[in-house]
Amino acid sequence: MDKELFAAAMAARQNAYAPYSKFAVGAAVRTMDGTIFTGCNIENASYGLSICAERNAIFAAVSKGYNDLTTLCVVADTEKPVSPCGACRQVMVEFNIQEVWLTNCAGENKKMTMTELLPASFSPECLTK
Ligand code: THU
Repeated sequence: MDKELFAAAMAARQNAYAPYSKFAVGAAVRTMDGTIFTGCNIENASYGLSICAERNAIFAAVSKGYNDLTTLCVVADTEKPVSPCGACRQVMVEFNIQEVWLTNCAGENKKMTMTELLPASFSPECLTK
């Protein structure tokens, strides 16, 4: 397991703003040059505006100029390693993430490839003829 990425995701989870679901999630993403960006889920009284930890981590990286990402780790206090939602999987494909560590707070983990998580995905290349 990528321990550095896991530790960063765990730390980010502390900042989760999840008063409605009470389900705190943390995520950390690694860029091509090894830099790590983190995110947590942030909910809203208008529930549909809530955003997942994974997308916040990815958008933190992209907003600093890092469009080429390699690995993401997501963590929640679940019985089994937490699995990213479909919307986040689509965003992971956009920024070239290749592998994802599904983890829980106990440190249990499972590594999955992006192809396993979102086979036959719609990617930027699909827009070209
Ligand atoms: N959530 C994430 O942040 N990441 C996931 O992979 C699953 C779901 C958040 C969204 C919402 O704030 C809460 O967890 C419950 O769905």
